[in-house]
Amino acid sequence: MELLNGERFVLGTCYYPEHWKEELWKEDIRRMLDTGIEVIRVAEFAWSKIEPTEGTFTYEFFDRFLDVVEETDMKVIFCTPTATPPAWLTEKYPEVLNVSKEGVVYRHGQRRHYNYNAPIYQELSARITEKSASHYGGRKCIIGWQIDNEINCEKNEFYSESDTIAFRKFLQDKYGTLERLNEAWGTVFWNQTYTAWEEIYVPRPTYGDSTNPHEVLDYTRFISASARGFAKLQSDILRKYIKPEDFITTNGIFGNLDNHAMTKESLDFMTYDSYPNFAYMMKAYDEADAMKDRKWSRNLAEVRSVSPIFGIMEQQSGANGWNTGMAAPTPRPGQLTLWTMQSIAHGADFVSYFRWRTCTFGTEMYWHGILDYSGRDNRRIQEVKQVYEKLQNMKEISGSLYEAEVGVLCDYDNIWDANLDVWHGSVEKVSKKALFAAMQHSHTPFDYVYLTEEQTAENLGKYKVLFYPHATLINEERADLLKKYVADGGILVVGCRSGYKDMNGKCVMDYLPGLLAEVTGTDIPEYSFIAPDAGEVYVDWDGTKMKAQVFADLLEPLSKDAKIEATYVSDYYAGSAALISNSYGSGKAYYYGSAFDEESAGIFLQKLGVARPYQEIVTLPEVCEVSVRKKGDRKYMFLLNYSKEAVTVEFKKEVVDVESGQAVSGKKILDGYGVMVVCVR
Ligand code: GAL
Repeated sequence: MELLNGERFVLGTCYYPEHWKEELWKEDIRRMLDTGIEVIRVAEFAWSKIEPTEGTFTYEFFDRFLDVVEETDMKVIFCTPTATPPAWLTEKYPEVLNVSKEGVVYRHGQRRHYNYNAPIYQELSARITEKSASHYGGRKCIIGWQIDNEINCEKNEFYSESDTIAFRKFLQDKYGTLERLNEAWGTVFWNQTYTAWEEIYVPRPTYGDSTNPHEVLDYTRFISASARGFAKLQSDILRKYIKPEDFITTNGIFGNLDNHAMTKESLDFMTYDSYPNFAYMMKAYDEADAMKDRKWSRNLAEVRSVSPIFGIMEQQSGANGWNTGMAAPTPRPGQLTLWTMQSIAHGADFVSYFRWRTCTFGTEMYWHGILDYSGRDNRRIQEVKQVYEKLQNMKEISGSLYEAEVGVLCDYDNIWDANLDVWHGSVEKVSKKALFAAMQHSHTPFDYVYLTEEQTAENLGKYKVLFYPHATLINEERADLLKKYVADGGILVVGCRSGYKDMNGKCVMDYLPGLLAEVTGTDIPEYSFIAPDAGEVYVDWDGTKMKAQVFADLLEPLSKDAKIEATYVSDYYAGSAALISNSYGSGKAYYYGSAFDEESAGIFLQKLGVARPYQEIVTLPEVCEVSVRKKGDRKYMFLLNYSKEAVTVEFKKEVVDVESGQAVSGKKILDGYGVMVVCVR
């Protein structure tokens, strides 16, 4: 593989030869190479250039373009163009179009207007993939393929007739009989019992937009399966035709999609499209949100959980802008570098900027690339050049892996259920945000750790502490994995509302926290939302006060090894246990009866001894992020300053500045948006 081979970092850009006069191609490629850009991604929206009318295949356009490319050392990621079906296709086969829940058909004119399940769209997508791969696959400049573009972006719900037919098939495969489906969905409630498969549809408008929750959870699983199937259809074809050393990827990551399973089935690695400038949108700017562009580190951690070393297929390089709604300023001097290094700090070894030239027409004519409309040399191209130069001294870091002692457990069943269920979602949302903020501000690197089918207790054992903030849906298998992790010496922290649902999203008729009672040594005789008129509810943990958030499970110890660590001190909860620890095998599990805010999450990190793992090496202000990548006995520490102002960092031990090769110790100034990468041995 030419990318992500652990030898060096590579820069790229997104290029649209179909947007420009052919005379520009050669000069553009020369300028890219001069800037340090070695890879371009092309063709993701260019179906009509290859199949202008149904069944007519014309390869000349990209042949001419690739000929120009092959006069140089430029490398190409070629895409399948299925994100934008042509007008002739949607006109002749309107059943390929996506439809809103209310039945409004999304017509030609935007993009991603198709559904995954129309058989004719699958057939025509397979054919264009096969034609492109068989014709261009052998080209020496091509190093990899991107499937579609941003699968499940724009709209990740599908309500066409083809989806209903496919949904019925999905359910038949899953349940076999209607009896089992009726049982799983609890259709006896409100007389929803199905007597024929044809009575089942993808969710339709209902009063209060409230369809049977177990059905909607299965529908979300169905969307994910449909998207995965569409990716697999294409990757199976690509594998037949492309050079064995070429990779297959797609650019994500979006909702209602099991990105882990899709990557395992169809891709060599995941790439991500990183647009931290969304934090500065003119309309939605939130001054109070301290995390701003730093929040993209959360998304990068998600991508890393899919592919430990990944690529950025689209890295922000200019202002955001759609003529219909999106508007954000041009990145300030230094921000483009900061965002590039943010991606690299989290595991990206390939970073490709969106886009080379800014388009002068269409919906995205304000979404700026590196160059503005005129194409003149500008500040941003200079900055890309400087990034390239910086990375020349950092080659040794490529291939290194992100290093964290703390993990946050996730699984798609809980993520999707929390999106659909207000009770579950209200705790999940605040805790996820709080844990991220607490870890960022306390300079505690962490990983998201997914409970995929392949997950093992041994792998979980790499983490000293695992938070599973709201393990609401749980099955025996996952509970056993957690038991093994704790028994082997791990520390598990779960928050309120854990263990109260089965995998259909139905509440269990059990003492809570159900399957997690044994490992947490906890019983929950009573629970409630914190009432809106309750005021602030506090918890006392050995003299440390924490504010309970959203919900209060009132706890009692269940086993002799369970110990009350903290109690509520407010309202009628006062005196009830709020936090129980349970020694289990060589480890410990904690059950916390509430959701987390940043402060309580920070207290957990502190008390469990995992906060600030690098404080003996460096101290730095909250506004900076610390990320560490490790290779052999070397740790590469990225210090990223998200503020416009310069800050002081202090090295307590001598380290080596990777860029200059110089030893550093004591106080150093990190410029506004500055980045420093040091090697610690
Ligand atoms: C991405 C997309 C690109 C472009 C960019 C800016 O989501 O993949 O094609 O649209 O955003 O809006």
